[in-house]
Amino acid sequence: MPVPDRGRSRLIPSLHMFSVISIKVSNGEFVNYCYAIVDSASNEALLIDPAWEMDRIEHSLSGAALKGVLLTHSHRDHADLACHFASRYRVPIWISREESEYYCFELPGLLHLPDAGLLRIGPFEVWSFLTPGHTAGGVCYLVENNLFSGDTLFAEGCGYCSERGADPYAMYRSLQLLKRTILPNTLVFPGHSYGQLPGQTFASLLKTNIYLAFDDERKFVQFRMRGEWGFNQPV
Ligand SMILES: [Fe+2]
Repeated sequence: MPVPDRGRSRLIPSLHMFSVISIKVSNGEFVNYCYAIVDSASNEALLIDPAWEMDRIEHSLSGAALKGVLLTHSHRDHADLACHFASRYRVPIWISREESEYYCFELPGLLHLPDAGLLRIGPFEVWSFLTPGHTAGGVCYLVENNLFSGDTLFAEGCGYCSERGADPYAMYRSLQLLKRTILPNTLVFPGHSYGQLPGQTFASLLKTNIYLAFDDERKFVQFRMRGEWGFNQPV
């Protein structure tokens, strides 16, 4: 999946009136964020990572016509309600080919993201960045000035890299890709919060998120994997 050029003014010819609605949902110990993006002109919407609380998510759509469901990765706390909304609105679900194939993740209506990185859905131009590390085929989505970073990047850290398909070396490269590509004034909407509200600027994260401060792969991996079996060497 190629990386969009950092000079994104060429990729976004005009700004729409999109609003991002952050929806905090929970199920027992799981607390996470899904998001609705609504185009005020057409009253059309996208959902990102719908899970757990069907009524709350439906209410957030406020009658907008859902055009598609985007999944950052296949973990259940991000994908639990994808099928429900896809079938209710008869729209596709998108995920990366890498994620789907690695985990044999299949759902009715599931489509693979285009290799070119750009997906046009109604009024929305969605750029997908393949950002493995937390999972084998995780992605971040950029819609205008908004980055939906799933479990790749949180305001306070980055996703853990210890389950099947995870790779801390890939996580390092994914974060470096974001550092090279995402503009400072981009608003970041992660899959979880550990204190800060969604919608912080990338510039703010660059100042406060220690995982974005590393420029040495080995040191990053040892820090990310501290306490994990086999990764207890001193930095
Ligand atoms: Fe996850």
